[in-house]
Amino acid sequence: MQQIQLTENIYYVGVNDRRSERFENHMDLPNGVSYNSYLIVDEQVALIDPVEAGFIEEYLLKVKSVLQGRKVDYLVINHDEPDHSSSIAAVIREWPEVQVVGNAKTFPPLEAFYGPIENKKVVAEGETLCLGSHTLQFFMMPMVHWPESMLTYEQSSKIVFSNDAFGGFGALNGGIFDDQVNIAFYEDDMRRYYANIVGKVAMQALKAIEKLSALEIKMIAPSHGLVWRSNLAWVIGKYTQWSKQEPEEGIVIVYGSLHGNTGVMADIVARGAAEAGIKEVKVYDVAKTEVSFIMSDIWKYKGVIIGACAHYGSMFPDMTLLVHEINEFKPKDKCYALFGGMSWSGGGVKTLAKYAEEGKWNLVAESVEVKGAPIREEDWDKLYNLGKAVAEAIH
Ligand code: FEO
Repeated sequence: MQQIQLTENIYYVGVNDRRSERFENHMDLPNGVSYNSYLIVDEQVALIDPVEAGFIEEYLLKVKSVLQGRKVDYLVINHDEPDHSSSIAAVIREWPEVQVVGNAKTFPPLEAFYGPIENKKVVAEGETLCLGSHTLQFFMMPMVHWPESMLTYEQSSKIVFSNDAFGGFGALNGGIFDDQVNIAFYEDDMRRYYANIVGKVAMQALKAIEKLSALEIKMIAPSHGLVWRSNLAWVIGKYTQWSKQEPEEGIVIVYGSLHGNTGVMADIVARGAAEAGIKEVKVYDVAKTEVSFIMSDIWKYKGVIIGACAHYGSMFPDMTLLVHEINEFKPKDKCYALFGGMSWSGGGVKTLAKYAEEGKWNLVAESVEVKGAPIREEDWDKLYNLGKAVAEAIH
């Protein structure tokens, strides 16, 4: 088997998942996802983060093909979430003397998931673990993505094993390193991963970036997506921009429509925004596009316009998940406006407004609620002007 090397004695032993339809069972995976793992072969052997348990056979084959009969001495658990840790029992079965390395917060949840772990090594902030010519150093990264999350820095190679931080969706299609692929192909999936997994803890992500700035780094090796070695400034810059919530000029228009009328309104709104000079206008039907994609663009752009038709005095049901996610993840400083159809009951726009108040965004236009279908010129004008108003607010 051909080995994938980060350096002479550090190997990529991750796997691709193109068969799961959804990540965490709620985010679509059209391009798959990778579970990255790394193997350091020295006087002592260390595995950095295992993989999702469904891929254990392929994983063990890769690890064993590098080790050629040697055993694993340390298994570093940077993060407890099962997309990485669920193969821990299989790894321990394979190498029963392996010491599982984590911090004080790692083990209670890990043992709650998988039962007692006998050989534990608890490490603290800044502590080191010498493997021979390689030395691991551990830094806590709480809430990126769970309370126990940490990163592991290998001092001689200056590689950061960052787990979820700097990770992204998208299986690795042959190219493992950033300079082996067209990065643009992965950027949207990386932002979607950020917006839906890390974005909620943007401040903690910034702290993790700050921590990294004190280290000399030659490579960032996350547990999902590309290994970064040639475009470090680019990826750190993107992560910083997303964490500081510095949006780009553009507008997301998302609507929920029972019979298409609120969809027609969305097109009129979009026309107003485009004619006011906004080149990036994205229109989504919330019943068709899975919410993580919409959240990703809401994170990206400054303008957000939401439309919902009425449904039994409330709003189009599928919109509820999106507004819940917005209020959970709290993307900041958006210019927004609302619209929708009244049907026979009204209530869609009113319900949206109630949710929107919690978000503390900047309402830049009066809401437009249309009786029946948008067949009157005065309604067209109001909708067109709503799009224009948001465009002018973000220019
Ligand atoms: Fe990739 Fe939070 O697990």
